[in-house]
Amino acid sequence: MIQFVVIVATIFVPAAYSSWCYHDPSCNDTTWSTIASEHCNGSRQSPINIVSRSAVGNSTLTAFNFTKYGDNTTMKKITNTGETVKVELMSGVQITGGALSEAYDSLQFHLHWGNGTSVPGSEHTVDGTRYPMELHIVNAKSSLNGNTTAAVADGTGLAALGFFVEAMPGNVTGSSAAWNTLTSYLANITLKDEYVNITHAISLDELLEGVDRTKYYRYLGSLTIPNCNEAVVWTEFKDPIKVSKDLVSLCNNFTIN
Ligand SMILES: *[C@@H]1O[C@H](CO)[C@@H](O)[C@H](O)[C@H]1NC(C)=O
Ligand SMILES: *[C@@H]1O[C@H](CO)[C@@H](O)[C@H](O)[C@H]1NC(C)=O
Ligand SMILES: *[C@@H]1O[C@H](CO)[C@@H](O)[C@H](O)[C@H]1NC(C)=O
Ligand SMILES: *[C@@H]1O[C@H](CO)[C@@H](O)[C@H](O)[C@H]1NC(C)=O
Ligand SMILES: *[C@@H]1O[C@H](CO)[C@@H](O)[C@H](O)[C@H]1NC(C)=O
Ligand SMILES: *[C@@H]1O[C@H](CO)[C@@H](O)[C@H](O)[C@H]1NC(C)=O
Ligand SMILES: *[C@@H]1O[C@H](CO)[C@@H](O)[C@H](O)[C@H]1NC(C)=O
Ligand SMILES: *[C@@H]1O[C@H](CO)[C@@H](O)[C@H](O)[C@H]1NC(C)=O
Ligand SMILES: *[C@@H]1O[C@H](CO)[C@@H](O)[C@H](O)[C@H]1NC(C)=O
Ligand SMILES: *[C@@H]1O[C@H](CO)[C@@H](O)[C@H](O)[C@H]1NC(C)=O
Ligand SMILES: [Zn+2]
Repeated sequence: MIQFVVIVATIFVPAAYSSWCYHDPSCNDTTWSTIASEHCNGSRQSPINIVSRSAVGNSTLTAFNFTKYGDNTTMKKITNTGETVKVELMSGVQITGGALSEAYDSLQFHLHWGNGTSVPGSEHTVDGTRYPMELHIVNAKSSLNGNTTAAVADGTGLAALGFFVEAMPGNVTGSSAAWNTLTSYLANITLKDEYVNITHAISLDELLEGVDRTKYYRYLGSLTIPNCNEAVVWTEFKDPIKVSKDLVSLCNNFTIN
């Protein structure tokens, strides 16, 4: 049976480890509203704590169609942005359905993590529980043709797909080949702005393996970095991606320089 839920009540919970000012103790999302007052003090700010008992089923939230998510040649390059690790996607990767108003182009994905498995780093939380990592796929309305100025000015210009990552006991032998391959690139991008071209065959479907993509939470929110533009249709999938503990630790111990 397909189950869809939408959040009707949300509570903002500051993330202890947030990506954009991760290393600066005087800068975290509790201070964003004073730094970027234009947007970060708004009324639909992300991330949120998902209160599962306040989420209600909504049959209009239909399944997504994923175009080229099974294609293992869509990942262009992986970059250390100084805040996160980002993978840019080739054009043609798309999502439709999921009660989105039109097709959205999948532009990139990136990871949010904490510090070791003892300090989890997902941005969203569920009933107060923070996962060790969170993967975000960033999508923009296809009709905007890559105009990011227009996308952040539109209340539904962007659609973010959020996937929690759960650490499984065991080492690399227990993780999917795609996660082994993806994380093997980290050693080559230890400095800010460093990137490498992705030469291995990896697909988004492989990275998202095990997640029932018909079960998700939906709310209207914002970018989680300044200027916090309230332009994002958020979809947080209920099922976490399961990644072996040592790969999660590899990520969490990776210092973004
Ligand atoms: C966030 O920054 C403020 C101001 O520097 C600081 O007082 C607070 O402890 C920080 N919170 C976290 C969770 O790091
Ligand atoms: C946020 O701050 C801006 C600039 O300081 C102000 O104009 C706006 O009314 C504030 N919005 C909210 C929702 O507090
Ligand atoms: C159900 O979802 C649709 C599409 O997102 C939304 O417009 C509508 O307000 C939702 N209904 C409820 C009861 O939340
Ligand atoms: C999703 O794909 C199926 C099969 O290709 C198609 O029948 C359906 O219309 C598509 N739905 C959307 C919303 O694009
Ligand atoms: C991360 O954890 C290690 C110990 O596990 C600690 O030495 C280090 O200071 C921590 N880093 C941050 C940014 O908190
Ligand atoms: C992008 O969108 C903005 C805001 O709608 C518009 O002013 C600008 O001309 C657009 N840029 C291009 C290259 O179309
Ligand atoms: C992972 O575990 C297997 C089985 O316990 C062991 O043979 C292998 O050496 C371990 N690999 C690493 C990289 O720790
Ligand atoms: C990553 O670095 C290793 C060791 O320096 C090198 O052998 C390998 O070719 C590099 N991989 C990529 C994709 O640049
Ligand atoms: C990555 O590929 C592009 C062409 O697709 C090439 O111009 C660039 O030099 C490559 N960069 C690296 C670091 O291999
Ligand atoms: C990549 O996808 C192609 C086409 O589906 C397939 O033939 C190939 O085996 C895949 N490569 C890997 C390494 O999975
Ligand atoms: Zn993100």
